Amino acid sequence: MAINFTLNGKPAEVDAAPDTPLLWVLRDELKMTGTKFGCGIAQCGACTVHFNGNAMRSCSLPVQAVAGQSVTTIEGEHSPEAKALQTAWEELAVYQCGYCQSGQLMSAVKLLRDKPKPSDEDIDQFMSGNICRCSTYQRIRAGIKQAAS
Ligand code: FES
Repeated sequence: MAINFTLNGKPAEVDAAPDTPLLWVLRDELKMTGTKFGCGIAQCGACTVHFNGNAMRSCSLPVQAVAGQSVTTIEGEHSPEAKALQTAWEELAVYQCGYCQSGQLMSAVKLLRDKPKPSDEDIDQFMSGNICRCSTYQRIRAGIKQAAS
């Protein structure tokens, strides 16, 4: 089934079963491999993308749900919030292995859009669904604080 949507501001078309997780379509069909597979059951946040501006887990989002809608992946996230976060990530050496970081950044962008000056509690609460197996949580919080300053 042909499904059309907007991906990173451009038209995209895929031929996929309607219940195929968006994550597979992004990675396998559209070669947007910045979005990562972690758990596949909506528990880790590695697959976070923006769906109509909201942070969503693409491993549990059927591709039919995005028909006619807008999806942004880490490859297409060039907002001021994303740039500030990427700068902070580099300056503070936030990531360790890096695997979860595109999901962390997509969530952090959404947080800063909703709350430009988040408290530590805001950050911990909003980011609690993004798991980092290297436990870089303190640096992630510091990176978000720096980007928000
Ligand atoms: Fe989607 Fe873990 S891979 S939440």
